[in-house]
Amino acid sequence: MADTVHPPAAAPAAPIQATSAPRAYDGPPDYRVVGRHGVFPETNHDEVARFNFLAHMNRHLAANVMPGVGEAFEARVTPAFEKKEKRSFKDRHEVRKALTQDPVWQWWSAMRRATMESRQQAGRWVTIRQADDLNDKVRALTETDARLVLKPGFKQPRSTEAIDHHCMPGSYHTELVPGDVTGAANYDIGIFATTGGMLGRYNDGGGVAVAEWVKQNLPEFQPKRILDIGCGLGHNVVPLAQAYPDAEIVAVDAGAPMLRYGLARAKTLGADNITFLQGDVSDLSQFEDESFDWIQSTMFLHETSYKMMPLIFAETKRLLKPGGIVLHVEQPQYTDQMPLFEQAMRDWDAFYNNEPFWTKMHEIDLDAWMEKAGFSKDALIHGGVAAVVDPEVFPEAAKDTKQEDYGRKAAWHVIGARKVA
Ligand SMILES: C[S@@+](CC[C@H](N)C(=O)[O-])C[C@H]1O[C@@H](n2cnc3c(N)ncnc32)[C@H](O)[C@@H]1O
Repeated sequence: MADTVHPPAAAPAAPIQATSAPRAYDGPPDYRVVGRHGVFPETNHDEVARFNFLAHMNRHLAANVMPGVGEAFEARVTPAFEKKEKRSFKDRHEVRKALTQDPVWQWWSAMRRATMESRQQAGRWVTIRQADDLNDKVRALTETDARLVLKPGFKQPRSTEAIDHHCMPGSYHTELVPGDVTGAANYDIGIFATTGGMLGRYNDGGGVAVAEWVKQNLPEFQPKRILDIGCGLGHNVVPLAQAYPDAEIVAVDAGAPMLRYGLARAKTLGADNITFLQGDVSDLSQFEDESFDWIQSTMFLHETSYKMMPLIFAETKRLLKPGGIVLHVEQPQYTDQMPLFEQAMRDWDAFYNNEPFWTKMHEIDLDAWMEKAGFSKDALIHGGVAAVVDPEVFPEAAKDTKQEDYGRKAAWHVIGARKVA
């Protein structure tokens, strides 16, 4: 008979002491509060649970792991570099390369990439399992609608075709079957998990903020025609359409799935004044000179290219009416005032999240490029906007100045210009 080993009797558990006052919940909102428009994919219990897990993981990485990267940078990475090189860091690339050797950065970076890959695959599965339904619903809403203008045989710009941006399978343009919208629907359902709800229920907090900014800063400005370039599926152009219901809005994008889904989504949200048009916005020759009052881009420039951006700026100058405005909303540019650590952390997307132009775009002197496109120095516009979200449901995280999630935080810079009348 085998000997029986008895474990020692357990010591009585010590009562759990409260060490501080209970903290209010400050995690991301439950996925179930997401804004469900008429073509939003259905999500079952397990899919919601997966998105909730990913949103919590992203919040944990930003709030708890990221500060450790900063501490490791101060305590280990910088002293080791200075000891070896006998000088300080000279640019963000040196900082990034040094950080990659540190285990805390390695953990944070690997987990950040893993949550992005998981988010894409989670959303992809949700939309593919109901692809026929989604494609049929969108087709019924758009097929005979003149506000969807697709160009058969349209050639994707290389900057959109060659890359699966932020690990998104097939990027913005791939169609698994004719009329496919599953890629666009995937973008729509997952962004709430990636940002932890910081863009609002309908992921439109950027557009809402821009519309408010224009109303506040340019109260006399009454645009009749607005052009949104790189509109995607219209998250941030629908709020402009709602803020200016009498304006005619043209939203241009290269990806047909985004445009189809975008029109269907806008219609079911009650926005009827947007035409979704396929095109490469570096050549908008189909529009006449001085034919728009306002040209808007939101989180778009970083997905173009060094060659394309001057063409886009020149087109915006040509297309604006005198007195009209162009606004580009982006994550902040790298400047000499921004610490190199912050620049290196912000650069993460370029190297690990399939955003190759991100690093170059954020070092460009945008003022100089705008001037080169013909905008007057005195008429340049600079501002800042933070996503406007429903305070009853969402944390005001975008306005929190302490917590940063370099590249994902819903607080942006606005660079633009008013065309001299
Ligand atoms: C990050 S998404 C931003 C979407 C949208 N502005 C928003 O705020 O949700 C970038 C979009 O730009 C589009 N895009 C990139 N380069 C383009 C180009 N040269 N012409 C037209 N669209 C382009 C992509 O297809 C994609 O939908």
